[in-house]
Amino acid sequence: MTETLEVLLSEEQIRERVKELAAQINRDFAGAEVLVVGILKGSFVFLADLVRYLDIPVKVDFMDVSSYGMTTESSGEVRILKDLEQPIERKNVIVVEDIIDSGTTLKFILGVLQRRRPRSLKVCTFLDKPSRRRVLVIPDYNGFSIPDHFVVGYGLDYAEQYRNLPDICIINTEQDSE
Ligand code: IMP
Ligand code: MG
Repeated sequence: MTETLEVLLSEEQIRERVKELAAQINRDFAGAEVLVVGILKGSFVFLADLVRYLDIPVKVDFMDVSSYGMTTESSGEVRILKDLEQPIERKNVIVVEDIIDSGTTLKFILGVLQRRRPRSLKVCTFLDKPSRRRVLVIPDYNGFSIPDHFVVGYGLDYAEQYRNLPDICIINTEQDSE
């Protein structure tokens, strides 16, 4: 298997956009406290950058839900692998995702969290692939909408690799001919 990478979004483009998203959140939640909920593992790089540009009081927690495993297609089934450490009743919750694809993962998470009666529940995704949507979810904050390519880097993986890349890259996988 040969894997080739092509830069789609550079480190600099990413930094500028993350600053803009944080500025929007600072404005929208001025005078309030937010609980930022990172969805593991893909969101960890984005979340780490985003919270450093927030100047409102911020708490951080994480949730882990079952993922695609080793493939690039969603199975449509979602399970909670790690839940939040605290109740979210009457809190301003911002769910931070790496990417919305079919929307299945996020729809499930929002359903779970909404039942816990937060004061507000918003979604901040770094990437969105709107052409792939199978269930309706619309992010409140979206870094970039991208076309239907499988991407890696900035926290996103392919078979657990490439999360450490500073850019977002399109990955092309080809079977080697013998
Ligand atoms: P959804 O449930 O189909 O919306 O899938 C969302 C999740 O699938 C994301 O949180 C990622 O973990 C993973 N995912 C979807 N597309 C990509 C991609 O292009 N690269 C890496 N992970 C992806
Ligand atoms: Mg994810």
